Amino acid sequence: MKALTWHGKRDVRVEEVPDPMIKEPDDAVVRLTTTAICGSDLHLYEVLGPFMERGDILGHEPMGIVEEVGADVTHVRPGDRVVIPFNIACGHCVMCGMRLYAQCETTQVREYGMGAALFGYTKLYGQVPGAQAEYLRVPQAQFGPIKVPHGPEDERFVYLSDVLPTSWQAVRYADIPDGGTVAIFGLGPIGQMSARIARHLGHRVIGVDGVPERLEMARRHGAEVIDASVTGDVPEAVRELTGGRGADAVIDAVGMEAHGSPVAKLAQTVTGALPGVIAAPLMSSAGVDRLAALNQAVEAVRRGGTISVVGVYGGMADPMPMLRMFDKGVTMRMGQAHVKRWIDDLMPLVTDESDPLGVMDLATHRLPLERAAEGYEIFQKKRDGAVKVLLTP
Ligand SMILES: NC(=O)c1ccc[n+]([C@@H]2O[C@H](COP(=O)([O-])OP(=O)(O)OC[C@H]3O[C@@H](n4cnc5c(N)ncnc54)[C@H](O)[C@@H]3O)[C@@H](O)[C@H]2O)c1
Ligand SMILES: [Zn+2]
Ligand SMILES: [Zn+2]
Repeated sequence: MKALTWHGKRDVRVEEVPDPMIKEPDDAVVRLTTTAICGSDLHLYEVLGPFMERGDILGHEPMGIVEEVGADVTHVRPGDRVVIPFNIACGHCVMCGMRLYAQCETTQVREYGMGAALFGYTKLYGQVPGAQAEYLRVPQAQFGPIKVPHGPEDERFVYLSDVLPTSWQAVRYADIPDGGTVAIFGLGPIGQMSARIARHLGHRVIGVDGVPERLEMARRHGAEVIDASVTGDVPEAVRELTGGRGADAVIDAVGMEAHGSPVAKLAQTVTGALPGVIAAPLMSSAGVDRLAALNQAVEAVRRGGTISVVGVYGGMADPMPMLRMFDKGVTMRMGQAHVKRWIDDLMPLVTDESDPLGVMDLATHRLPLERAAEGYEIFQKKRDGAVKVLLTP
């Protein structure tokens, strides 16, 4: 089959690789019909190289048709249309019992002290072959696959794999009070959907980004926006819009690709250029994160407010603004999304004909899988108005 494989920093290629097969009784093999590129893939593309191996298949936002199932897989059968959550969870361990699927004890990557395995996401997360491919082997398929109806376009459902549950959790973790305001840093797909969900739940939204078409998209879905590319002091601008106090909650939907921290950028670039053996410990312990957005989030939240960090951070030793955070008494929640936990909330919204979350207005590009490398490039460089890129295997 064809699959998008990693070869080095900013070097991904579509290649011929062996077809996946059922190996365990709880496996399924799914023929993919749509598979998206995520902001998280950009971390692999750019800074997480030390944890990648040449030939690793990327991708974790797929849907398709079940082709084959192992003996233990009974809730889906060949021919079913399914969305696959990005994290791999068993559904029956202690963590799964608490619906903390991103911490599944059956798939935890203990070698690196990490949570549940993820599709296509480095050795830290199990080096599981990813989903930017024609076929995907799905481990723990007795639990993971989400059945969706045949008929409507893939775009209706594909975001259930990651973008929608992640955004839903970001908003829930933000704990926005009734009538409250949330500031959302980063208006990529995650920020866009977080904004729409917060609006849907009746909150006021202030979106922050520096990319014109992303600001415009957020505006047309009911957010007020701050253009970070022309605003000197973004937290001050947030305070001005909130009676001088700051937002009740802030969602950091930027993560470590943040713009605005030249020193960190240098460290990161250096790490990106080192051989893997040296770079891996540097990346995970010496701290090469880019905390620009998180620092601004701390400044933009009101006292006693909540910061919900949904953007992914990778370093361990960054100087966190702990004094400020403690002094302001903020609550901070973070972590990978517990995808399945939020599906019952989301399913009625994505199946509603009126499309309350506007899922049909997110993808800006749909490319054949063969052109995936080009998809990465325009998405990373935010070229050609790219907000979300979908691939068709
Ligand atoms: N927690 C989870 O389960 C989970 C799931 C999916 C994605 N993520 C993470 O969420 C983040 C966003 O994902 P995405 O797909 O929307 O990615 P994206 O890269 O498209 O979006 C990031 C946006 O942040 C903006 N930005 C950069 N620096 C900024 C700054 N200083 N202030 C304001 N905006 C700034 C960029 O212009 C961009 O529009 C990534 O870090 C991704 O890894 C987390
Ligand atoms: Zn993703
Ligand atoms: Zn589990």
